[in-house]
Amino acid sequence: MVSQTKLPILAVHGGRPVRDPSRPWPRWPQPSPDVQANLAEVVGSDRWTLTSQWGSSGLFERRFAEMFAAYTGTRHCVPVDHGSSALVVALESLKLSFGDRVLVPALTWVASATAALRAGLVPILVDVDSELGCMGPEHLDAEVGAKAAVVVHWSAVMADAPGLVAAADRRGIEIVEDCAQAHGAEWLGRPAGSWGRLGCFSMQQGKVLTCGEGGAVVTDDDDLATALQELRADSRRYRADSTDPALEESAGILGSNFCLSEFGAAVLCAQLPLLDAQHARRNHNFRLLDELLTDVPGVRLIRPRPEQTKMSIYELAIVFDPLPPAVTAEHLADALTAELHRPFYQGDPPLHRSRLLQPWTKPTLQPLTRDFVECNKDRKFTATEDLYDRCVVTHHSTLLGDAQDMHDIASAIARVASPISWR
Ligand SMILES: Cc1ncc(COP(=O)(O)O)c(C=O)c1O
Repeated sequence: MVSQTKLPILAVHGGRPVRDPSRPWPRWPQPSPDVQANLAEVVGSDRWTLTSQWGSSGLFERRFAEMFAAYTGTRHCVPVDHGSSALVVALESLKLSFGDRVLVPALTWVASATAALRAGLVPILVDVDSELGCMGPEHLDAEVGAKAAVVVHWSAVMADAPGLVAAADRRGIEIVEDCAQAHGAEWLGRPAGSWGRLGCFSMQQGKVLTCGEGGAVVTDDDDLATALQELRADSRRYRADSTDPALEESAGILGSNFCLSEFGAAVLCAQLPLLDAQHARRNHNFRLLDELLTDVPGVRLIRPRPEQTKMSIYELAIVFDPLPPAVTAEHLADALTAELHRPFYQGDPPLHRSRLLQPWTKPTLQPLTRDFVECNKDRKFTATEDLYDRCVVTHHSTLLGDAQDMHDIASAIARVASPISWR
């Protein structure tokens, strides 16, 4: 519990900050002790990528694919160079028709929508539910004519995966899970990425599992897995025997080169074994912080539903409802940053307001752009707007510290949430 009786001047207004600025926060990324040895092995080998002429055996790329399929409880994993490419090849593998519609929640990173355009499809933006910040079954049930949905597990929580799968079955919609923010999350014991037809992951620097830039698609479907391999390697797939080169020209579907390099794969093989211990620490700290905030009026964390049996926190999302009078989420983010000497920010603007989602700036997308504008112009995003306008986030590494860090965060939140502090 945090005392609110004495609320000194906010640090952002020149007061003394809650936290001693010389006290460090956890760093990110946190390299595993095995990273250097794995990288040295790649440097000293004659295979820096699976598209090289030599070295089909012992590829880190294939080792990581096996490890990550096991981690996500799926039959296949196809590593790629970015989370964005993962979404592109996942959507392409469904063999939809040019211009088909794909539902995408308004609260996500822009790549969830641009991937649809890159795959020749039209993203239709959908409101989210105000509790989780994710697309829910009711949103799918309200839609007509969409062929697929990119379901984003957002910030620290999973969307209602079984509910969405049931709704998608009713509507004949294919589910692609965007798990860029949810590596290792589980709903009723089943991992994110294994609920939909395909699950897509990003291993970009900020993600809980990272190699700088990287990604992966997982699926249980053997045919989709074969198509994914070709879509990410110029129509080539792994050779069945272990002769060189590693890829053969199977040429079943037109692909591009989205391969993950051996350097990235070597780092991921070293990082993955650390992930569950990091989840445990973050999740423990999340529960402590949630408890410390119990009596702070007008503040809640975005929390998982009880059916979500394991959290994977990409960003801690704090909702201020109501906001102190004449104070915006941006003011609160700046105030928290000043109290704690740690970046707190407002998150990515919803896609219907995003400067980054302007397909009309790319002339080759014209037919899709026309449809995109027409289909999205009258849509309402009430819950998305409401949540975004009240929400402040911080990176998951903020939760990799100790109990004192959580006490500092709780005190700072209590201080900035109080209307008295802003008078
Ligand atoms: C929800 C979501 N989808 C997709 C992506 C794209 O991943 P990448 O940056 O690896 O291309 C991100 C990255 O931030 C993301 O958060």
